[in-house]
Amino acid sequence: MNDIKNTIPYILSSDFLNVTSKISEELLWARHMVMSEFGSIGGGGVNRQALSVAEFDARKKLLEWANEINLVGYTDAIGNLFLRREGEDKTLPAVMTGSHIDTQPMGGRFDGIYGILAGLEALRAIDVSGIKLNRSIELVVWTNEEGSRFSPGAMGSAIFSGYYNINEVCENKDDQGITLRDALSNLSNKFPELVIRETPSPISCYLEAHIEQGPILENTGVSIGVVTGVQGCRWYTVEVIGETAHAGTTPITHRRDAVREAVECIKALQEVMRDELDILRFTVGRFNVTPGSINSVASRVIFTIDIRHPESTTLEHFSDLVEKTCKSVVLTCEVIVVETLSHSPSSFDQALLNLIGTAANNLELSTMKITSGAFHDAQNLNNISPTGMIFVPCERGISHNPAENAKSEDLANGARVLLLSLLRLAG
Ligand code: GLV
Ligand code: MN
Ligand code: MN
Repeated sequence: MNDIKNTIPYILSSDFLNVTSKISEELLWARHMVMSEFGSIGGGGVNRQALSVAEFDARKKLLEWANEINLVGYTDAIGNLFLRREGEDKTLPAVMTGSHIDTQPMGGRFDGIYGILAGLEALRAIDVSGIKLNRSIELVVWTNEEGSRFSPGAMGSAIFSGYYNINEVCENKDDQGITLRDALSNLSNKFPELVIRETPSPISCYLEAHIEQGPILENTGVSIGVVTGVQGCRWYTVEVIGETAHAGTTPITHRRDAVREAVECIKALQEVMRDELDILRFTVGRFNVTPGSINSVASRVIFTIDIRHPESTTLEHFSDLVEKTCKSVVLTCEVIVVETLSHSPSSFDQALLNLIGTAANNLELSTMKITSGAFHDAQNLNNISPTGMIFVPCERGISHNPAENAKSEDLANGARVLLLSLLRLAG
């Protein structure tokens, strides 16, 4: 399975390898368990929505740990949190690593937070080893990766990368009607001590460690996934507008029933979103009814669509069918389709792939190349700097689920590969 072996130009020094012995598997695991208490929903599940109180508490704990190893905290207008270890040459662009701290409403203990805690453990190992590095290293917590509270997902990294402007999203509301702007002002009130960066600090490259969220590494018994890229993704909000009416008195033929026609839309979409190879992903994950009363015909339905495919032409083909299909089946209602997220399929930097493979090989860990089915902040960073991702196995490939699990040994191995790669890039 070592398919990357023998193709690598890098030599990693034994000094660097010694630093990896400072990674503590026990501490890394214990910190995951501490973090899982912020937003715990029991049974291992976590609901830590972006910019919620639970997420602020997790940030506070992270800042405490960062403080112990003298990392300096910064933030920016979208609430990304940067924890910086200064290098010997402060003029050089920093090496950056990180991930996200928010979760799905019924999320687990590892998605996102692993990349943060692996990065923190790598920086702790560097700190205790006393090794001097040329470049600064920044650990970053990207705001609102999941997108389950505020759309779109991967927001903090998209704004950092200049993909869109904060003004385009700050009036977006969560389910309770709270704007992103208000949630961000709660964040700045909570952390007044953090210096706000007006412009992004320059970076030389970006690495992100993550659980695989699929079963391939576990099934093949491989320790490290060297991520070649991420499949493309589009999100849509479909609004079906009808008219509310009395459930007992209004004949079916006189109704403009938003639920009935939204269901027709979904049935028709499921019919056209067919792929014999089973590569296409199509999901309706949210279905909200107004007024949501048992004895009133629905005046409005909003449902969401998530479509993914690794090839951009196929993704485009299926995405183009969304509006057409909905419009073709809606008879008495109005339908409005809005695209809320668009990520093209991405390919990561070949030199970084090679470096991650070399680091794993030097640690005698098996590797394989793998494509990500989930989207990640790394995709946005890939547009502005060389980017790579490291995957570690997760149990039965289960993710976005309270049962999400990983082995502490695998998590520690991923942190060692991340550390060795960071040392090479910053040293
Ligand atoms: C992010 O978690 C995604 O939906 O892929
Ligand atoms: Mn994630
Ligand atoms: Mn996720």
